[in-house]
Amino acid sequence: MKITNICCIGAGYVGGPTMAVIAQKCPEINVTVVDINEARIAAWNDEDVENIPIYEPGLSEVVKEARGRNLFFSTDVDAAIDKADMIFISVNTPTKTYGIGKGMAADLKWIELCARQIARVSKNDKIVVEKSTLPVRTAEALKSILDNTGNGVNFQILSNPEFLAEGTAVEDLQNADRVLIGGDSTTAAGQDAIQALVHIYNHWLPKERVLTTNVWSSELSKLTANAFLAQRVSSINAMSELCEKTGADVNEVARAIGMDSRIGPKFLKSSVGFGGSCFQKDILNLVYIAKSYGLNEVADYWEQVIIMNDHQKRRFAANIVSNLYNTVAGKKIALLGWAFKKDTNDTRETAAMYVADYLLNEQAEIVVYDPKVKVEQIYADLDYLGSRSREENRKLLTVVNEPYEACRDAHAIAVMTEWDEFRTYDWERIYDCMLKPAFIFDGRNILNIKELANYGFNISSIGLPPFRKEKEPQKSIVI
Ligand code: NAD
Ligand code: UGA
Repeated sequence: MKITNICCIGAGYVGGPTMAVIAQKCPEINVTVVDINEARIAAWNDEDVENIPIYEPGLSEVVKEARGRNLFFSTDVDAAIDKADMIFISVNTPTKTYGIGKGMAADLKWIELCARQIARVSKNDKIVVEKSTLPVRTAEALKSILDNTGNGVNFQILSNPEFLAEGTAVEDLQNADRVLIGGDSTTAAGQDAIQALVHIYNHWLPKERVLTTNVWSSELSKLTANAFLAQRVSSINAMSELCEKTGADVNEVARAIGMDSRIGPKFLKSSVGFGGSCFQKDILNLVYIAKSYGLNEVADYWEQVIIMNDHQKRRFAANIVSNLYNTVAGKKIALLGWAFKKDTNDTRETAAMYVADYLLNEQAEIVVYDPKVKVEQIYADLDYLGSRSREENRKLLTVVNEPYEACRDAHAIAVMTEWDEFRTYDWERIYDCMLKPAFIFDGRNILNIKELANYGFNISSIGLPPFRKEKEPQKSIVI
């Protein structure tokens, strides 16, 4: 089966970069990315490619190469569906905020809307690809909607979950560890559909990296991968608290265990807590699914990963308050970084917003600097938490676009995101312009604590005992 036209519904963090790379690597295939969000599509089409709505290293170059050649962004969803042989569904699947499963289950209303629209518009057979992260067995529901509301055409459903991480999306896509394709290999049509998608990825990835499974394994593998990754972060974060009490250094512990090839070195970086749109959402979804099958021990096991992460964010904020003599009321605290990790402008579930919220409840004055996140986004995140009025949020928290300004006259600095530029600042200059004693809380373990201590800072880093300048050694008295 030859694919000449692809449509992707959802021009977000996954749809945009994924389709840009497919278009780059498959110049003979027309790829149209559609979205109902007009502003987002307008930004993808912005003449200045640096204004595309998602910041990812290397992405603007890929878009520049393919856009207008075989990569298109549009709000005309019906037209793109009609033309396509293969349709990727890459819409958001956030945690439900209402009704049954509120706060746990994935909200599939956007997925269902897509399925109904595809069924209504399609006049020839199509392959529908689940790119969004979905609860296991969603393909069954999709198939039922497509078959029962369609125009009598045939749909093959594939699961092709995305494993890219933000900040490294382009590299992850161009050089993926593996691509997973779940399909129905028991029928000839199912096999054809699987092979059509395998063929697309084989344009740039070797055969052995394109893995095919049944649909349910593919859907569940995505949730499992995120659960395992998040579990590693919560595991090392649990050890970080023990390190702080015992004098062990969490970086040394991580290094020591990571050299065991059975454990491996990745995802052992202790932090203020994981954020991002997916780890929490996908684990909550896994917990919900396990509970719905009556598997309470399985559910409790995975829920602990989230409980630990919430604890890590809270204890980081509480540690700031206790170090600042148990009160931060009226004190200026500079937050360096707001994005949930470096090299992205995404702030969904960022630890920074929870730490800020905690400190604002303690009546601190917060000043935020982030190299990529826009001021409106920071306020939108705080407003979303609903802890106080919009006016109060804007009064108590300010956003500046220069790091030295953020730190001026501050009692304390908290490093929330591991942006590389934070390592290169003139920390002596920063120390000089702060109120004394000057505190730094390094939520990412990126700063050179010895150097900073020499300037006079009091430093608390995740997983390390508090650090301050050692007293000058006493000169021995020669009699
Ligand atoms: P996103 O919110 O950035 O983008 C989703 C887009 O879908 C939005 O722009 C929205 O307007 C659009 N949309 C929703 N319903 C629509 C409809 N009916 N028609 C047209 N457009 C519609 O979300 P995202 O981060 O790209 O995530 C998408 C999916 O991919 C989620 O299931 C997520 O779990 C999964 N995922 C995300 C990442 C990541 O790094 N962000 C990685 C792997 C998987
Ligand atoms: C994660 C997964 O890594 C991707 O494979 C997956 O596709 C994606 O979720 C998804 O499904 O959305 P992402 O959330 O973009 O990707 O970024 P990660 O690099 O996984 O980081 C997640 C959070 O964990 C960040 O807040 C990061 O700072 C934190 N983290 C990560 C740590 O605190 N320590 C680590 O060692 C690694």
